[in-house]
Amino acid sequence: MRVRVSRLAVFMSRNGQLVCDVPDRHRQAGLRPAAWELLARHTRWAEPRDEDAPLVKQLLGAGVLIEEGSPEHHQEDERSPWRSWGTAATYFHLATRTLDGERFVTAADDTARLRQKAEQEPEPEPFKRYDIPALALPAPLALDSAMDRTLRERRTTRRFDDGAPVTLAQLSTALHWTGGVQHRFDVPGFGEAVLKASPSGGSRHPIEIYPVVRDVEGLAPGLYHYAADIHALEPLPGEAPDTETLLHWFGDQSFVPRAGVLFLYTAVLERSAWKYPTGRTYRAVYTELGHVSQTAYLTGAALGLGVFYTAAMRDEPVEEVFGLDWRNEIPLGINGFGVPHPQEAARQREMAAGGEPGFSYARDEWDGLG
Ligand SMILES: Cc1cc2nc3c(=O)[nH]c(=O)nc-3n(C[C@H](O)[C@H](O)[C@H](O)COP(=O)(O)O)c2cc1C
Repeated sequence: MRVRVSRLAVFMSRNGQLVCDVPDRHRQAGLRPAAWELLARHTRWAEPRDEDAPLVKQLLGAGVLIEEGSPEHHQEDERSPWRSWGTAATYFHLATRTLDGERFVTAADDTARLRQKAEQEPEPEPFKRYDIPALALPAPLALDSAMDRTLRERRTTRRFDDGAPVTLAQLSTALHWTGGVQHRFDVPGFGEAVLKASPSGGSRHPIEIYPVVRDVEGLAPGLYHYAADIHALEPLPGEAPDTETLLHWFGDQSFVPRAGVLFLYTAVLERSAWKYPTGRTYRAVYTELGHVSQTAYLTGAALGLGVFYTAAMRDEPVEEVFGLDWRNEIPLGINGFGVPHPQEAARQREMAAGGEPGFSYARDEWDGLG
């Protein structure tokens, strides 16, 4: 048997001790000098010495060492965007990838914590100013009225009208603008270029949409994949997730299962990595998500639907159900769409017209600041 140090392992010093972080397992192991010396002998495949057997067993168990021919070894050898994106991007992704047992605080608990914190440490200023005279700007021009209204009315909605379904036409429209294809053309010597409503670095469009249908008129609840090239839905096998499952997947946020449809976004990494083999591309993937989500928000606003975005997600169970392997395709976050609760719709209308501003939370979920 030959063993070597895992390519995922990252070493750092903490409180005077050398620590190995194995990020795919969210585990850190403090290393004694005997372990450092052993690891230094196994930066390449090597047979362990007999007297090292107990320590090797421990380090294999912790994932710091891997065995030649093991599944971990084969996975490391597979072609993957992470090989070219490098250690820093891989580490960041795995260290922040949420596992099945991840704990999320409730909005109420978080608010209580922040209120306490604000007493000791005031909230940072939301605006930056220089201590120099500022030049006043003319009033903003009016955009065409529909655009103006859509931008003004884009808000996060977390209160939905439980009995009111999203229509199939609304879902189709949201998919068209959020992920649909506007133009396709051949770039000689390169391949096909695709243009969508949201910009994409190098026009790689790595983001896929998986609609999770809860309450859409004329469509069975369940998991779907949006086939962007033919503007169609591919029903995925498996049962429609129930309320409890959705709460588990999306950080126990009570409003998530109340949406008519969720768009789960993933990124197919190879699409971006093919053109951009550097770790900075990982940043671009999330920048793209921001563009796509804003397009979803604006489309929802124009359709009169309430929209939310949430990054709170337990990645591991979502990956499992959708058959995603973090080496190739990663879940990013979700937008939810639904018919707003009449009280919430009225509150947002009043706010857009100059009324009292506030967040969209039901009273029982958050004794909110707004
Ligand atoms: C990157 C990002 C992550 C967010 N994550 C969450 C979330 O986990 N839960 C949630 O309720 N809202 C989430 N939101 C929505 C924000 O809370 C919301 O945009 C903010 O309160 C401002 O309200 P507005 O969208 O109406 O302007 C997120 C928004 C962004 C851009």
